[in-house]
Amino acid sequence: MQLFSILACLTAVVLASPADKTSSKLPRVDVPRCPRTEKISYSQTIPDKKPFPRTAVELCWDKSTLHLAFSAFEEKHFHFNASQGTNDDIWEYSVMEAFIHHGTNDPQTYLEFEVNPNNVTYQAFIYNPSKVRAPDAPFDHFFVSDPLTDGITATTKLNRRRQTWVSKVQIPLGLFNVDEPRGTRWRMNFFRTITSPSTFPDQELGGWSSPDEASFHKTPFFGHVRFV
Ligand SMILES: *[C@@H]1O[C@H](CO)[C@@H](O)[C@H](O)[C@H]1NC(C)=O
Ligand SMILES: *[C@@H]1O[C@H](CO)[C@@H](O)[C@H](O)[C@H]1NC(C)=O
Repeated sequence: MQLFSILACLTAVVLASPADKTSSKLPRVDVPRCPRTEKISYSQTIPDKKPFPRTAVELCWDKSTLHLAFSAFEEKHFHFNASQGTNDDIWEYSVMEAFIHHGTNDPQTYLEFEVNPNNVTYQAFIYNPSKVRAPDAPFDHFFVSDPLTDGITATTKLNRRRQTWVSKVQIPLGLFNVDEPRGTRWRMNFFRTITSPSTFPDQELGGWSSPDEASFHKTPFFGHVRFV
């Protein structure tokens, strides 16, 4: 009996994947119906968890829309490329990002949304079947090509004196087949990149639930979100 339980225990340890080890430590947030909001914030680099400019996201939902208010603090450069438009590679510069999956599992497919200080947005569904962007596995993206018509919008205000920028974003829940938002469960992560003209293309990376390396596309690290 005793031997059996020791064996069972050893087997459990051997079978435990890295995802099982991370899941107990993942951040969680309950998101209320608008106009109430819940705020998450982070101030650590990826993956070293060193000090990083504070970044916040206020969240709420209504019948058909997820509302996200991104706030970047201690922003010195507001660095973007003015030639870039919708769905261009704005992530090479300074952006705030949300990765969003409806469901509780570590996703293979999720929405990647980004906004830059010039109010330009990037929105694509990612297909990442290895869940960690393994070099030998497929990794693909499918743009939301007309975000305004589909109801993805951003409004962005910079305050250079206070070194902040705020982007208020709406994302339709229909993109995730959600008809009844209350009680739904999600996996999400939030990131910020910081670049400057003198250090480009080097980036500082920060995030809500830090992956174990400098890659955002590791879905076992996505935090748990519940619409309440
Ligand atoms: C800015 O973006 C445009 C369009 O993507 C690109 O052609 C140009 O090289 C970029 N400029 C810099 C300085 O990287
Ligand atoms: C930003 O883009 C949105 C569309 O996503 C637009 O409605 C808004 O007027 C733009 N400008 C600012 C300053 O937010």
